[in-house]
Amino acid sequence: MFEELNSRPADSLLALIKAFQADERSRKIDLGVGVYRDAMGRTPVMRAVKAAEQFLLETQDSKKYLGPEGDLQFVRLLQPIIFGQSPASEQRLVGIQTPGGSGALRLGAELIQTAKPSAKVLLGTPSWPNHAPIFGSARLAVREYPFVDLTSQQVKFESMSEALSSANPGDVVLLHGCCHNPTGIDFTMEEWRRIAELLVAHRLVPFIDLAYQGLGDGLEQDAAPTRMILEAVDEALIAYSCDKNFGLYRERVGALYVMARNSNELGKAQSNMAALARVNWSMPPDHGAAIVRTILENAEMSAMWRAELDEMCERVNGNRASLADAAPDLAFIRRQRGLFSNLAMSKDIAAVLRARHGIYMADSGRMNLAGMQPADAGAIVAALRAEGCL
Ligand code: LMR
Repeated sequence: MFEELNSRPADSLLALIKAFQADERSRKIDLGVGVYRDAMGRTPVMRAVKAAEQFLLETQDSKKYLGPEGDLQFVRLLQPIIFGQSPASEQRLVGIQTPGGSGALRLGAELIQTAKPSAKVLLGTPSWPNHAPIFGSARLAVREYPFVDLTSQQVKFESMSEALSSANPGDVVLLHGCCHNPTGIDFTMEEWRRIAELLVAHRLVPFIDLAYQGLGDGLEQDAAPTRMILEAVDEALIAYSCDKNFGLYRERVGALYVMARNSNELGKAQSNMAALARVNWSMPPDHGAAIVRTILENAEMSAMWRAELDEMCERVNGNRASLADAAPDLAFIRRQRGLFSNLAMSKDIAAVLRARHGIYMADSGRMNLAGMQPADAGAIVAALRAEGCL
């Protein structure tokens, strides 16, 4: 049987993790995979997470199954953080715990496939390299349109507007809620308002991927576009990840929320989400969601988490400022948000930056700004200049 398989290349982004570890040079900078790093270059377990783990160790008395929806208290406690306090939004939403944001995207894709297999997914490029494969694996047609011009670092709003205007009612629009991966280019609130108008006018369904809340400008600010879009439309999907803002990467903690027109449709969506989860992973892993729930149930741990997340956000924005200050051509990095910015460069140049300078970034030219120290700015700029990128 397996002789029929074709070998597939390793995911190039994830391959960077191993390549960086294997590099024996002491002077090397990891701007690769999207994990937060502190001033010592570590990706620490957050203090609130440690406290919650300690609490769980002492108090958790069973590991029995929770069901395909996972930890529903975790799902509920995240809701005000994502959607605000509006009771209307609460009544129009259902959620289910998923293995990470990727699990939420996959489950959402399968829900769309079940509800409306003819729906196309509109995806602005560049995007997270796993977006198109996830939707494609759920047998949905993906229609890509250019979203950003990397040379000018500007949003191609006209291209997006044309793509949305020519879509069919019921088609799905993938939107990065904040901290766009890979470009760091977020829409202005005015652009978000125009997007909301396009969604409503053409009866399109937003699928918001919110994987970096709190790492752009803060929890509230980063949620504002999602809340505004949900006010405007009557149906939506939201894939949420706690990987980055709780530093729980390998625990795989996320949730899929669906907003529907009425309680009848909400109930149908909920039962389908549970059934689809059951055939995919049966039940999501518990530990990460239990940590998040514990933090959100406890005022002291919550305050600790919020303070540490703010520190992380400030550090990333500080790194952005250092790099922008080191080269006028990189001034755009200061106004971009989240872990990433994406330089216009070829795969070959990215390979040269690794080989000659020990600077690891994705083949696409995406840099994880959390991976540097402010003192690295000079070396990064010098390497970019030496290879003709600036
Ligand atoms: C990234 O974009 O680097 C992260 O989201 C990790 C991943 O799974 O690709």
